[in-house]
Amino acid sequence: MRILLTADPSAAGDLVAREIARAVDRDPATVLGVATGGSPEPVYRSLARAGVRLPHATAFALDEYVGLPPGHPESYRAVLQRLVQLPLGLAADRLHVPDGAAADPDAEAAAYDARIDEAGGVGLQLLGIGRNGHIAFNEPGSALDTPTRVVRLTEDTRRANARFFTGIDDVPERAITQGLGTIARARRLMLIATTEDKADAVRALVRGPVTSDLPASILRIHPDATVVLTPEAATGLSEEEFEAA
Ligand code: PGA
Repeated sequence: MRILLTADPSAAGDLVAREIARAVDRDPATVLGVATGGSPEPVYRSLARAGVRLPHATAFALDEYVGLPPGHPESYRAVLQRLVQLPLGLAADRLHVPDGAAADPDAEAAAYDARIDEAGGVGLQLLGIGRNGHIAFNEPGSALDTPTRVVRLTEDTRRANARFFTGIDDVPERAITQGLGTIARARRLMLIATTEDKADAVRALVRGPVTSDLPASILRIHPDATVVLTPEAATGLSEEEFEAA
């Protein structure tokens, strides 16, 4: 696992955006794994600023809330349409997001892994990290080989995401999330953390064991994983633990 320190969120975004641009240059039909939340936003802004276009690429979202009405502006489909599909010219039918309004969310979750496999698997997967060490909506305690499935969100995660809604009561209680086993099959993982509230989780990721108590620790056993940090997110790490980017 490589750990890179960048100056600020914008520099972190530029670094990851460059990797995505290279992947798309090499293979315009590349399959990207896209994340939502505050952490990856600088990546999408940087790609748009650089004029990167994804007309032949495919993107798979990490997760989606269960139970929001279709078209809700904070559904991850709507967020990814705003941040990725429209600005970067991704074809609408190649943005894949689990359907959180499906009549049978369990069947929808199972079908999602099959769709990723049919597309040839994810090449480069973007990730954020939760304050509790979650990735996607795999909360602590998720087995390391889980498939895409329906999960219940922790109170802490719902509180963290309340900023996107009118309050915590409006944050859905369940989601469909790619599993840790699903995420680990992506050929390359890039995790971004830019804020100090992630520093404890980042330290546990860097120093602690691989454990389902810290779902992000699957990066430690992945053959091509990079963690991109700002000084705030790297608070408490010492210099020999990261490379300057
Ligand atoms: P954030 O969330 O990027 O909005 O901080 C990341 C996560 O919880 O996975």
